[in-house]
Amino acid sequence: MANTSQSLFDRGMKVLVEGVSSASRGPATFGGAPRYMSHGQGARLYDVDGREYIDWMMAFGALPLGHAHPKVVETITREVARGTHFATALEVEVEVAEMLVGLLPHVDKVRFANTGTEAAMAAFRLARGHTGRRKIIKFEGHYHGWSDAVLINTNPLPPTMLGHPNDPIRIPDSSGIPEEAWKDTIVVRWNDIEALERAMALHGRDAACVVTEAVMSNMGVIPPKPGYLKHIQDLCRHYGALFYLDETVTGFRLAAGGCAELYGLEPDIVTYGKALGGGLPMAMIGGRAEVMAGLEWGKVLHFGTHNAGRLALHLTKVMLETMLADDQAGYAKIKHLGLKMAGEVRRVAKASNRHGIVVQGVNSMFQIFFTDQEEITDFRDFCTHVDRMKFRDFALRLMDKGIYMNPSATLHSLSSVVHTEADIAATARAMAEVLEEMP
Ligand SMILES: Cc1ncc(COP(=O)(O)O)c(C=O)c1O
Repeated sequence: MANTSQSLFDRGMKVLVEGVSSASRGPATFGGAPRYMSHGQGARLYDVDGREYIDWMMAFGALPLGHAHPKVVETITREVARGTHFATALEVEVEVAEMLVGLLPHVDKVRFANTGTEAAMAAFRLARGHTGRRKIIKFEGHYHGWSDAVLINTNPLPPTMLGHPNDPIRIPDSSGIPEEAWKDTIVVRWNDIEALERAMALHGRDAACVVTEAVMSNMGVIPPKPGYLKHIQDLCRHYGALFYLDETVTGFRLAAGGCAELYGLEPDIVTYGKALGGGLPMAMIGGRAEVMAGLEWGKVLHFGTHNAGRLALHLTKVMLETMLADDQAGYAKIKHLGLKMAGEVRRVAKASNRHGIVVQGVNSMFQIFFTDQEEITDFRDFCTHVDRMKFRDFALRLMDKGIYMNPSATLHSLSSVVHTEADIAATARAMAEVLEEMP
């Protein structure tokens, strides 16, 4: 069989760093050549050798409408003929902001950016500017983009490097980050109320914000314990720190109003990305008017040539209209499909009974952990008990059977409105075969 992916990888290795533009797409994650994709349609991806895959990665969550949705194609085709980008004020910018403010009770004003990383950078600066405080409290294993201040303890580490749970050792995830950049970033164990209470007693009065992923989404899928996020919010109110909910993954995905809606939260600052753009780069910072006023000219600076890109805004509008139509039927559908798929994986794993498997998910997102535990509740559990190489083997074997999941156990899978019950059944069948084949 032709292997055009391999020859593209050989060419790519000569001119691109590791053959790709982000580590999760290349050999660091695939162990060798990744599959090069040529096009997508609905829930399917097609590679350069003409192989077809049911796509459960959906561009890391950026595609709630799947690939080449007719409304997306129609919108882009219409709008691109009128110009790609103006970097001026736009009618669609006001329209989309009105839709968002109408949808999200905790958001009075929005500011558009392009990526989750950029939005988070602006949010941290805003939190510091608004409070006049310097410290940022973040959690182990949580990722808020790749900026210097928060790129610590976001990647899995050997358990012996984590330190005492009361005082996690802070470890940057990259060379080239000056210590000053994360000097004021405090790292706390997640899903552990006492750990945060202790940290807040020590640092709460100097903390500009406590930032949390709503559902932990960069160590597989780890849901918050009941009441945990609300407890973070209460502690923030008590100490005068802003409660910053990073909904880059969960926003416009787990519910129309994201996890703020799902868990009844009132964050002071939120950031969104991924699904918001419906497939083009789009992100936003949102919050109460009083906090967002900090971004006014002369206070806290946030710039960007490509902010509020008109094509992306038109896609955001289409994504929202489509997902919200018929009483938010799109959200009900992706939730149903996600829960069904997770249930099927559990059923198949139980029937095979050859490997320790735990499936964790929330609505449309799920992840499969190869582990001897019954539950993975935080970063330390993940680092200690999850067999990441086994998951990679599982995902690569699934790829050979036409099922696409990213081979990194730290990532997760997602349903979209174009997945079907038949896709779930085909995926479950392939998984059953793979579980039998795996050593
Ligand atoms: C919770 C969270 N915040 C921020 C980001 C950064 O978003 P982006 O990749 O768009 O810069 C990510 C990306 O995965 C994320 O998962």
